[in-house]
Parts: sequence; structure tokens; C-alpha cells
Amino acid sequence: MRVDVVTIFPEVFPGPLAVGVLGRARERGILDLRVWDLRDFTADRHRSVDDIPYGGGAGMVMKPEPFVLAVEAIRAADPGAPPAVLLTSPQGRLLTQAQARALAVRPHLVVLCGRYEGVDERVAELLGAEEISIGDYVLPGGEVAAMVLIEAVGRLLPGAVGDAESVARDSFSGDLLDYPQYTRPAEFRGRAVPEVLLSGHHDAIRRWRAREALRRTLLRRPEMIDEARLDDEAREILRQLRQGSA
Ligand code: ADE
Repeated sequence: MRVDVVTIFPEVFPGPLAVGVLGRARERGILDLRVWDLRDFTADRHRSVDDIPYGGGAGMVMKPEPFVLAVEAIRAADPGAPPAVLLTSPQGRLLTQAQARALAVRPHLVVLCGRYEGVDERVAELLGAEEISIGDYVLPGGEVAAMVLIEAVGRLLPGAVGDAESVARDSFSGDLLDYPQYTRPAEFRGRAVPEVLLSGHHDAIRRWRAREALRRTLLRRPEMIDEARLDDEAREILRQLRQGSA
């Protein structure tokens, strides 16, 4: 996959995308990350990327021309299938695991990093850009949001994660919170690892994990339960948890 990022702070990239799973994906050529300085697509002496809002109000709005010129340059340099253009914004659709999976099959993404109080509406209109939010809070800029998006998508690319099971588990991830995990030592500061995990009884372990994942989700993210794809066993565990009998 190719990913082009357009930002006024190109120096903050690759940042965390240089290490771990994403760093290795880039070394192996699974992910081709390119970073563009938005100011290189300005025409004035001051290399301005923002201006005052029409209609008044506080703050500055990012100008449309540099973003549009940047995306045109990126498209011209890669005349293949048109890329999916994304714009980081607190007004965007919330990034989910399902959306990360949908983006991971695209060969080419362009991520535009918003800043200041907003981006001229015509950027999204003219480029057919989809606005993406990483959560219901406001960041000063979209660079960290772009990194979050690229990490979420990049780890799903075939070959990015070595452990096949951890990728396989992804097919259901996002439906429920994960179950609690433990590693050695079996006891630490008086706290023992749940007995069942040491039992070697695979079916009992699987059931314990299903119950704990459901318990956590019910407690911390009850709204996720309504959307989750649950099998008969999970539905029965859920019924018991709701009755307080599990
Ligand atoms: N820019 C500012 N806040 C953001 C958010 N929550 N998600 C994506 N981009 C943003």
C-alpha cells in the first residue's frame, strides 16, 4: 500500500511509524509512506496555508488551493487507480476497526492533515475526501490522528504482523473488548493468574476468555454489545452475566 501524507509539519513523520510493526512493514516494502509539506504548494511569499474565516469568527481556516494542488501532484506522480483521499477532522466519521479493514484493501491512501479551526469546505468537496475523526475530542491538529489511522490500517496489511493468529483474531476484533491477558510469573505481589489459564484445558480457557471479554464489554462499553456478532454460546454467557450469575 502507498500512503501519502500532506501536512504543515512534515518533520513529525515518520515518528512512531518508524518503529515496530509499521517500521518493519515499511522496510519490507509492504507500506510505502511519503510525506509532503503543504507549504510547498503555496504561491505567495509567506507560504500561507491559512486565512481568516468568511462570515467572521475566531481563528483561521486552512486555504483550499494548497491541499488541492498537493493532491493533484500526488495523483499526477502515480497515474494508477485514483487514491482514497482522507481528511483528518473532529467533524469526520469515527474511525473504527471495520473502517480500518475497509481502508486496508485500498492500494493508495492520501491523508490530509487539518489544522487550526478548520479546513475550507471545498477541499473535501473538490477532492471527494472523506473526513475521518479518531475520537470525540479535539486535537490541535490532524498529524497524530493521521498516524493513528496509518497504524490501524498498516498493521492489517498482509505480511505486516508475523503472528497469523493475531491477524485472524482481528476478523472479530472491534466487536468486543479483548479478554484479560497474563504472562509469567504465575503469581506477582500476591496476585495469581486465573487458575483456568494454567490448566491446559483449551475449551475451558476459550469459554473463560469469552466470558471475560463479554463481562468487560458489558461493564465498560455496553453500547458495543448491541452491535456485536455473537454466537449462541456468547448469547447464553451474556444472559448469565446480565442475571449476575456468571
Ligand atoms: N483533528 C483535530 N481533532 C481531531 C480528531 N479528533 N480526529 C481527527 N482529526 C482531528
